[in-house]
Amino acid sequence: MTTRCQWPVAVCFIFSTVVGGFPVAVSLGTDQPGRIQPVDESPTFIRDIAPILFENCASCHRPGEVAPFSLLSYKNAKRRASQIVDVTSKRFMPPWLPEPGYGDFVSQRRLADYQIKTIRRWVDHGAVEGDPNDLPPAPKFTPGWQLGEPDLVLTLPKPYTLGPDGTDVFRNFVIPNPERQPRYVRAIEVRPGNARIVHHANIRVDPTHSCRALDMAEPAPGFGGMLPGKAQFPPGAVLIWTPGRLPIMEQEGFGWVLEPGVDLVLQLHLQPTGKPEMIQPSIGFFFGQTPPTPLLLAIQLESHSLDIPAGVKNHQVKSSFKLPVAVQALGIYPHAHYLGKQMRAIAKLPDGSLKWLLRINDWDFNWQDEYRFSEPVLLPKGTVISMDYLYDNSKDNARNINHPPIRVRYGPRSSDEMGGLSMQVLVQNKEDLEVISHDLWQYGLGVEIEGFQARLKVEPKDYQAHNGLALAFLQTRNFRGAFEHMEQAVNINPDFTGGHYNLGTMYLRAGQFKRAIMQFERVIELNPGLAEAYNNLGIAYAQRNEVEKSITEFERAIVVNPDYTEARNNLGRMRAILEQRKNQP
Ligand code: HEC
Repeated sequence: MTTRCQWPVAVCFIFSTVVGGFPVAVSLGTDQPGRIQPVDESPTFIRDIAPILFENCASCHRPGEVAPFSLLSYKNAKRRASQIVDVTSKRFMPPWLPEPGYGDFVSQRRLADYQIKTIRRWVDHGAVEGDPNDLPPAPKFTPGWQLGEPDLVLTLPKPYTLGPDGTDVFRNFVIPNPERQPRYVRAIEVRPGNARIVHHANIRVDPTHSCRALDMAEPAPGFGGMLPGKAQFPPGAVLIWTPGRLPIMEQEGFGWVLEPGVDLVLQLHLQPTGKPEMIQPSIGFFFGQTPPTPLLLAIQLESHSLDIPAGVKNHQVKSSFKLPVAVQALGIYPHAHYLGKQMRAIAKLPDGSLKWLLRINDWDFNWQDEYRFSEPVLLPKGTVISMDYLYDNSKDNARNINHPPIRVRYGPRSSDEMGGLSMQVLVQNKEDLEVISHDLWQYGLGVEIEGFQARLKVEPKDYQAHNGLALAFLQTRNFRGAFEHMEQAVNINPDFTGGHYNLGTMYLRAGQFKRAIMQFERVIELNPGLAEAYNNLGIAYAQRNEVEKSITEFERAIVVNPDYTEARNNLGRMRAILEQRKNQP
């Protein structure tokens, strides 16, 4: 019933403040320093349990918060006493996924072993209340915004109604940024408007406004799905909000830039409650004075080739990246869906030693979070960062959404799987930033190529995968592979306009003008409204010295798009050549 404090200093400190606030409950044993012993063998709610619940549970288990019931009173706690023993001893509550000792994070949410035992003893001894005079003061919570009044609050104009039934819903809401100046964001806070149903929120930025069309396409506010169009996290930032945790305020000079004219895309992970629920979330922004350092970036490890057979218990997925420069890791954000089980993130330093970054033994999609290291983790040049995940696609996995299990592959829907590890890091200077960005770009291409190859192994006639693979090969300058797969894409689907266009462009660049012409003619047959196709066709004719034909095509391009400057310039040039020829004797 007693534990020696073996934890890193920061945790022990929190531990002793909890204890210190309620001096009656414990005394320090004299024999062994740091040993804590309860004085009384049968704990009471008032003296022993309330402090634990107030400190560790009330952030969510109080009226108006995400948890389904409050744990502020004896009555409530007693009613659920055995359930509380169960969830705390399994460490299902408070929800906190990282294993202690495998990476140190701020705002850890974890009961000490002795607290779990105290709760158990309390219940074993009849869950008595104790002397009401000893009741510790109820915890004080700041109502409203937790970090103070935000500099900017954006609220969804119309509420969204979540249906009563079904499983998790992912809903994306597009909110235009009204600011006319760039703003340096140090923190964001989400007020869900109906805390009970929101399990987590992500905020992404969409400079392309691609999400507006997705939003318009559905009558209700927002649009469904886990992949919000082209919206992305700002460079080096993971904007995730989870209930029960204080948002992090970055130091001046950190954070990210909110550019004017962008859209914010708020993605909510919602859980139906059995009755219709209205929700109208707000996002609060806290601005700083100093532009954030450009030396922050995200290292994103992932696999796109996930393919997990039905029934398999320990399906392993790995990926790694070697750091070409030294970095300081500030935070880590692991990602998988419902089949994810174990996650390990390890750094192998150049001297061969291993450093744990994160370990999760029982991944729970519902409690995903971003974790900030207590101290920046220094990783020298040459360090290999690796993720090593296990997935459980058997019926023993209580979180498996398929009964019986089915084969699950990589994909953005929550019923697909993903495996990713994002680390927020700081580099030393601009040169290092360039070097690591280049290597990450290459790593990303490798991930894409593997992903398309995996898709083709399953479905060799997936013309989109052939197209994607060809484009990735082009970037790695594997031209043979690129032509082979682009040809296959249009052979499989002769009506694939994009494929013909890509192939035409590739032939054009390779100097095979006759072949290019055939492709662009096919594109125009399929879609006569594509100005670029006429322009490229014109270029191919020009290259073959068929001046009149090229002029005709440039003219057509301009008919389709009168603002097409490039086609106008090409036309001018070819007309001049024609003129010259006429004047030649
Ligand atoms: C970060 C928010 C949060 C914290 C902190 C938290 N809970 Fe919960 N708790 C929830 C939510 C949400 C649920 C509803 C089930 C779910 O979504 O997983 C829940 C469910 C429960 C349940 C019901 C479990 C079931 O199977 O239905 C119990 C019991 C419980 N919590 C006890 C506790 C105790 C005891 C603590 C503190 C030691 C605690 N919780 C801390 C959010 C929290």
